[in-house]
Amino acid sequence: MTEQPSPFGNISVETFLQEYWQKKPLLIRNAFPDLEAPVGPDELAGLACEEDVEARLVVQNPENDDWELQHGPFNEETFAELPEKNWTLLVQAVDHWVPEATDLVEQFRFIPNWRYDDLMVSFASQGGGVGPHYDNYDVFLIQTQGKRRWEVGGFFDQNSPRRPNMPVMIIPDWEPEHTWVLEPGDMLYIPPQVGHNGVSESDDCMTYSVGFRAPSHAEILRSFTDFVGEKLTSESRYTDPGLALQANPGQIGPEALQQVRDIFNQYLNDDKQLSQWLGEFVTDPKYPDLDQSADEEIELAQLQAALADGDLLLSRNEGSRFSYYQLGESIVRLFADGKSFECSGVTCSLATSLCQNPNIVINQGEWSDDALTLLVELLNNGSVYCE
Ligand code: SIN
Ligand code: CO
Repeated sequence: MTEQPSPFGNISVETFLQEYWQKKPLLIRNAFPDLEAPVGPDELAGLACEEDVEARLVVQNPENDDWELQHGPFNEETFAELPEKNWTLLVQAVDHWVPEATDLVEQFRFIPNWRYDDLMVSFASQGGGVGPHYDNYDVFLIQTQGKRRWEVGGFFDQNSPRRPNMPVMIIPDWEPEHTWVLEPGDMLYIPPQVGHNGVSESDDCMTYSVGFRAPSHAEILRSFTDFVGEKLTSESRYTDPGLALQANPGQIGPEALQQVRDIFNQYLNDDKQLSQWLGEFVTDPKYPDLDQSADEEIELAQLQAALADGDLLLSRNEGSRFSYYQLGESIVRLFADGKSFECSGVTCSLATSLCQNPNIVINQGEWSDDALTLLVELLNNGSVYCE
């Protein structure tokens, strides 16, 4: 494996993972000294007016500490009516809509693809922020312009007090352990459940949040049991041919419990099935209702003809999630946007290469027909595209 460049200055990625990831916050001054922000305030406001884009406006009234939350899509009037201070606009999944954001996101691939959620970008006026809160996710907050004061500290959970009747989570009696003012290029890592409050100290504050996600146990259990359940026939049932006479027919005995545990284990111990479910589950697109499939389906012969004319640059769709599971030597299962493809031989290299690189160049004669057939499927599903 090639040495991973570190966005943590003189802290290596390995040290970051051992000492900070999911454990404690870390401030890195000047982590991205030459960052050219792919989206500025005007483009962000434009995105927030688009139908398919998830956007929020949070406005605080500092006089009575009231908070207001509006959901997009917005329009020019929304922005014209905003007060001068104390508001912030937040736009999710900016990387899905702005391909130039890929370079920044790629710097965080020391975390597996499937844990990545999205790039959220916020713009805040003086005093703007979303209030003291915690998230269940890891986030890297990168200041790209203006200044933001970050107050950080304490672990919180669902049982922690929060201000009632507020449209956003506000931790009452907020007392931070650290206060840092971030300037352009600075980055702050916040682990899940750590309280934080970012308040803009300028009129042009922009923060990029590279966010990660982790499925809840409830989501994992529901999704896995649905996946297994859909494949089973009604004849797969609890059986008890060795049933012994019980003193009380009302008793549910330990054998029944063991029998049920064995049923669960039977499915859990099947690695092939468990990995297929996990890969499909975690690569499901963030916005499954958005149709990303190609406008016109192509066939293998068309791809071959295009290759005969010259090399092709293929890019992963910015909103697509790619991962793979190694099933054996030269056999992998590729997952892309909730679908899976078993690949063997040279097709494995294509699959793993797509998981590693946002863009790949395809030459004529380099790949087998099986590999090209995989590409045709990915192109038709909209998981990859070709300029
Ligand atoms: C932001 O205001 O840009 C980040 C919001 C957050 O703390 O989650
Ligand atoms: Co947060």
